[in-house]
Amino acid sequence: MDSLYNILKSAHSGWRYVVLALLVIALIQALVGWFGNKNYTESNRKLNVFTLISAHIQFLIGIGLYVQSPFTSGPTSEALYRYWKMEHLAIMIIAIILITIGNSKSKKAATAVAKHKAIAIFFGIALILIIASIAMMVKNDPSRTFFGIS
Ligand code: HEM
Repeated sequence: MDSLYNILKSAHSGWRYVVLALLVIALIQALVGWFGNKNYTESNRKLNVFTLISAHIQFLIGIGLYVQSPFTSGPTSEALYRYWKMEHLAIMIIAIILITIGNSKSKKAATAVAKHKAIAIFFGIALILIIASIAMMVKNDPSRTFFGIS
């Protein structure tokens, strides 16, 4: 049987595409709603909540992986270990917090446009951070590729 580490690694590696796809679609939907002055529909709300849940699932798998991975126990003076010990963790957690704040701000906002705007801004910044962190991963860890699944 595969080790827990390998299972978590494959799950975390593949799940990124679920998070990224939902984030991109939710962002487009929010921008269209914001600039097109559209209603905030139940299906808009659901997509945003699914995006939030997918990010929280990625966070939980990430914690399990952080404990198991050999990449989180090397010297911080080396770029490879620094990335996996600190940078990946910090940037991804900030992105997930932004997704969480965006959702809650959109829930509390009074108008449809304000709801779309909160999602567009917070999900947009989160998406940029996640893409930047994956780009840093490729730079600091030559064994990884941008679109590869382990
Ligand atoms: C939206 C959030 C996140 C995304 C998109 C993401 C994405 C990724 C990707 C693409 C990899 C490389 C997988 C591969 O090489 O195939 C990875 C590895 C890893 N992630 Fe994340 N991650 C996220 C959040 C987190 C969080 C919050 C943690 C820790 C709490 C974490 C811990 C790790 C660890 C330890 C590895 C290295 C696994 C290994 O190869 O040993 N990730 N992540």
